[in-house]
Amino acid sequence: MISPEISIPNNFLVKMIIVQAAEKRVHAQNVASVSAALAGLVGYTNDECHRVYLGAFLHDIGKQFVPDSILEKPNALTRVEFENVQSHPLAGYIYLRRYISDRIILNSVLYHHERLNGTGYPCGLKHDKIPLEARICTIADVWDALFSNRCYHSAWDMSRALEFILDGAGSHFDPKLVLLFLRLIEEDHIMNIPKVDGHVPDTIGRYLNLEFSSML
Ligand SMILES: [Fe+2]
Repeated sequence: MISPEISIPNNFLVKMIIVQAAEKRVHAQNVASVSAALAGLVGYTNDECHRVYLGAFLHDIGKQFVPDSILEKPNALTRVEFENVQSHPLAGYIYLRRYISDRIILNSVLYHHERLNGTGYPCGLKHDKIPLEARICTIADVWDALFSNRCYHSAWDMSRALEFILDGAGSHFDPKLVLLFLRLIEEDHIMNIPKVDGHVPDTIGRYLNLEFSSML
């Protein structure tokens, strides 16, 4: 159970869950589950793992401000379109900040596209200037995106996706987290993490103590 000191209005979370299309919700749930598992390995407390979960679940909430015609465009984006996509972490952060003050949650939303070598966005932060929970969310986000069928690419197989993560250790991803991520895979935790197929995540459902399936 998430600790009561996290002030998140229930109605707000319900809205956040409902506004996400089913495909995005599945991605959000997968990223949240992997992020929480990694956070546990890093040493986050149970309470912090739940907050990592929520931050990762909401990481792309700013995409609601980017037109679908851009998000679903199958060919290369123009520079302006790309800048529009790149605005989503800051847009999501500004939006969420009105309702949530928890740093772990907000950090995951604002910084999940930063890269260890400073070439990410929106701030170009480097190394440990990027909050740990955001570095965690980055690996989980890229991993799930590679495994998913998107309008601009087909799902990669596991070895190809793993190679991409390993190649990015030290430049894109935090190498210490990549090692822990490998441990999750070796111990079969990643594939065993429950995936959601159009259903509302259990953790959030339990937190809100609501039966969501009837609301979607
Ligand atoms: Fe994103």
